[in-house]
Amino acid sequence: MIQIQKAANRRILVMGHRGARGLAPENTIASFETARKIGVDCVELDVHVSKDAHLIVMHDATVDRTTDGHGYIKDMNLSEIKALDAGSWFDPRYAGEMVPTLEEILEWSGGEMPLVIELKGGFEQGLVHRVIDLLWRYDMTNEVILISFDHRALQHVKALSPEIRTGILFVARLVDPIAVARGAVADALHPNWNYVDHELVRETHTAGLALSTWTVNEPEDMRTLIEMGVDSIGTDYPDRLVAVAEEMDQAG
Ligand code: G3P
Ligand code: CA
Repeated sequence: MIQIQKAANRRILVMGHRGARGLAPENTIASFETARKIGVDCVELDVHVSKDAHLIVMHDATVDRTTDGHGYIKDMNLSEIKALDAGSWFDPRYAGEMVPTLEEILEWSGGEMPLVIELKGGFEQGLVHRVIDLLWRYDMTNEVILISFDHRALQHVKALSPEIRTGILFVARLVDPIAVARGAVADALHPNWNYVDHELVRETHTAGLALSTWTVNEPEDMRTLIEMGVDSIGTDYPDRLVAVAEEMDQAG
């Protein structure tokens, strides 16, 4: 069993957003491999449910933007999704890259690379149950964090499998963020970075929770947030975040 923790000599936990979205086609094995080689502490990915009940790793509800196909994931079978090219749109050198399933990403991780799994779409098709069943089957409930904008879904996760760590996503200046986290029985706050300030970091830590923010791509903003004391940053450019964190660590 591994816990999600930052590299020994780093002050921040580096989360590769959709793998390394700025450097490779998002939510593909190529993107997750790129992030791994850079030295991230965990990778974030998004999950939907296909028509034939497979867990599909993709950000959008349709395949249109990130493959050469068209249509909603919920209306397509796995075989149709697997026939798509998920790499060429980003760069011709990624031609033939396939859309992965969550099961394939668990296999790829092998329990060695912690996963931050965003419950994105397909709640009505049993997304929560299907993800938890898979994590149980792979004995990987301790190697993941489940996050979502659907806080009731996270409440459901905790009711079914209390050992799974969860984080509430939000893009707002909440009046009482800790109460919202408590309502969802969550372990962490995952605010959009534009809503992070010293007060939120202090409140979160006082409550014994973690603060992971996203999606931060400019080194200057990374420095500011690290100085504020956030625990984790999600970025499309994990190479930049590793460089900033190492430079700050060396400067003391
Ligand atoms: O890590 C959270 C972040 O991924 C949420 O936004 O739109 O990139 O899925 P989005
Ligand atoms: Ca996401």
